[in-house]
Amino acid sequence: MAGAETRRLFFALWPDEDVRDAIIERRAALDRLNARRVPDRNLHLTLVFLGDRPRELLEDILRAAAPVPGAPFELLLDRFGHFPGAKVVWLGGEAPPAATALVDSLAGAMESIGLVVERRPWRPHVTLYRKVYRRPRFPDIAPVAWPVRDFVLVESIAGKPYRVLRSWPLTKGPD
Ligand code: 2AM
Repeated sequence: MAGAETRRLFFALWPDEDVRDAIIERRAALDRLNARRVPDRNLHLTLVFLGDRPRELLEDILRAAAPVPGAPFELLLDRFGHFPGAKVVWLGGEAPPAATALVDSLAGAMESIGLVVERRPWRPHVTLYRKVYRRPRFPDIAPVAWPVRDFVLVESIAGKPYRVLRSWPLTKGPD
């Protein structure tokens, strides 16, 4: 089968039901957007995108991610935005230092097993719509407070909902 030799993977924050409902509620303000809406069950916030990797690397990836240190943090999703290159509309906010530290540690852990990962500045966002060619006018919204207590590794299989493969708690105390 085509693609069976690789798996498309990314590390992410996965909303619990309350946070997902809050995201969906804010999204309603954009209901008139004529674009491809991300299905509710796929809503997530990417930390590190790995892309297509040989399937036999999965064990190494899981092993390298396990000891990544991370402290719990709060995310505030307080604005809509548009990336003109990716043509997506998102809900996002400022990156708290603990979140940026987690992204750096995860990227470093992946590099330590020989993976090349993108090192663009991380901009926390939950993609809501794809194929948005022009920046819409965005309303102000009440922020979504997201208490982040864990992170996950997700697999993307074309035509299927994203699948959470593993979750790790953020347990480190303050420095
Ligand atoms: P996006 O939501 O801004 O499109 C799965 O594709 C997830 O990985 C998406 O959330 C996507 O971000 C993110 N991602 C980051 N870099 C990517 C890339 N080069 N190609 C596809 N997805 C990428």
